[in-house]
Amino acid sequence: MNTSKIARFFALAFLLAGMASSCVKEGPMGPAGEDGTDGIDGKDGADGNVTCLNCHTTAKKEAITAQYEMSVHGLSPHAGSPTYIYAGAGESRKDCAICHTHEGFVEVMFTGRDSIAQALAAPTRIGCETCHSKHVSFDFTADGQDYALRATKPVNLIMDERSIDFGSSTNLCVNCHQPREGAPKADANGNFYISSSRYGAHHGPQSTLLDGIGGYEVGTGYPGRGTHAHRKNADCTTCHMHQYKDQHGGHTFKVSVAGCTACHSSATSLDVKGVQTEVAALMTELKGLLVAKGVITTTGSRKVGTFPINVAGAAYNYNLIEEDRSMGVHNPVYIKKILQNSIAAMK
Ligand code: HEC
Ligand code: HEC
Ligand code: HEC
Ligand code: HEC
Ligand code: HEC
Ligand code: HEC
Repeated sequence: MNTSKIARFFALAFLLAGMASSCVKEGPMGPAGEDGTDGIDGKDGADGNVTCLNCHTTAKKEAITAQYEMSVHGLSPHAGSPTYIYAGAGESRKDCAICHTHEGFVEVMFTGRDSIAQALAAPTRIGCETCHSKHVSFDFTADGQDYALRATKPVNLIMDERSIDFGSSTNLCVNCHQPREGAPKADANGNFYISSSRYGAHHGPQSTLLDGIGGYEVGTGYPGRGTHAHRKNADCTTCHMHQYKDQHGGHTFKVSVAGCTACHSSATSLDVKGVQTEVAALMTELKGLLVAKGVITTTGSRKVGTFPINVAGAAYNYNLIEEDRSMGVHNPVYIKKILQNSIAAMK
């Protein structure tokens, strides 16, 4: 918190504390009727103040900060420096900085544009004030608890004209955890030109897969958009920010079985009903077929060249599910169908 925020916080806290105590003090020991009214007022004030302290104590802030240091948000190394520097600094990284740096995200959330105006010289990592900014109101009972999140609106996707709305804190995550490029479309000859070894959705396609969209959909049998229970009844925070325990959940953003047991009471690992194992096997099978078609290397890089659309599409799907990294969990039905149909189309 910077000084002006601290000042504002104390001003508000002071105001609320004042409201609470003045109500209590004014409560006269008078006739029964008046006493009742005053009593209700006093209780309201005290409640408001206590609610603030659910989140605004030093102990809480320190605990959350310690959790956050376990998250890789912006810290994992790439090409010799943390990702926020690698993908954040310089002219060629203006489009990357919007998801990888504090400055870039804050700027585009304010301007609504898809890139930043000027290249960053000294980007900083994603931190508390990247995701949090101001409370919309302090009347949490009427307006709901907003966690002072910076972005809560539905998100217009980068890959196409659609948008996603979880109606919850999860809209914040969707801004960054979405594909940068959609599935390939055939040219007039039924082919597609892969222009780079990095061709694909990029690293964070989690929200579109949870929503059940964005794969290259060859064949039939796909579940409808938004139909999976993990989309309807859960969201990013349910599984990744459940109650902090043993270096998982909370602001570590790391999933553990504790994030599943509210619904899968008998789960003992993330491999619920063996779905992660099943998806891993489908991925191995698809990879073998794609290597044989000459569209990816044995390390999974895409090969530059013109390929029949189903081959390019299956290569896109392989990379998509690899980058999703949930091994099927984000949307077991859609992810398995994408892989099964891609495999069938390669045979
Ligand atoms: C459920 C948790 C929660 C509750 C309850 C809560 N806040 Fe916050 N508040 C946050 C978070 C998260 C932030 C942003 C991160 C930070 O500063 O710790 C924040 C930021 C703030 C800020 C700085 C940004 C701004 O809006 O200007 C003020 C001031 C503030 N809160 C006041 C209050 C007051 C007053 C109450 C009680 C009426 C309250 N908060 C209740 C979570 C909460
Ligand atoms: C729409 C948001 C978004 C944009 C734009 C974006 N990234 Fe990312 N990137 C992510 C997310 C989210 C992850 C982490 C996903 C995960 O951990 O599964 C990531 C991960 C990465 C990683 C780490 C992968 C690894 O191997 O550890 C690198 C490197 C990277 N991005 C580079 C870039 C570069 C370079 C650009 C610009 C050309 C870019 N990103 C643009 C969202 C974005
Ligand atoms: C990547 C985004 C992100 C970052 C970074 C982040 N938060 Fe949060 N924070 C959230 C979300 C989302 C929620 C609401 C979770 C929910 O809906 O249950 C939240 C909730 C909170 C709460 C209320 C939760 C509770 O336990 O009652 C506090 C306090 C808070 N954050 C403080 C911080 C602080 C301090 C930091 C920096 C150390 C930080 N946050 C960094 C996304 C973030
Ligand atoms: C400002 C963009 C941004 C926002 C908002 C954001 N993320 Fe991320 N997230 C990233 C990037 C970038 C990475 C990869 C960082 C790296 O590899 O250096 C990442 C990494 C992750 C990881 C991988 C952590 C690990 O330990 O491997 C998880 C899980 C994650 N984010 C979940 C979430 C959730 C849940 C939310 C919403 C509450 C969220 N993120 C909001 C950009 C963002
Ligand atoms: C139903 C629970 C569930 C939901 C909902 C969910 N995730 Fe995950 N997520 C998982 C599981 C399980 C993994 C795999 C973790 C593992 O195998 O270690 C995972 C993996 C990831 C990873 C790879 C890094 C890591 O922590 O392993 C990222 C990044 C991620 N999820 C982001 C998101 C985002 C963003 C959302 C919301 C759009 C989301 N997840 C929704 C369960 C969930
Ligand atoms: C909000 C409730 C909820 C949460 C939280 C949740 N799930 Fe689910 N999950 C469901 C429902 C409902 C289904 C569909 C019914 C079924 O197959 O059990 C489902 C289905 C699945 C399936 C497909 C099962 C099959 O037979 O094909 C897997 C795998 C799965 N969940 C894994 C997870 C994991 C791992 C977590 C925790 C990281 C998790 N789920 C968290 C509600 C939830």
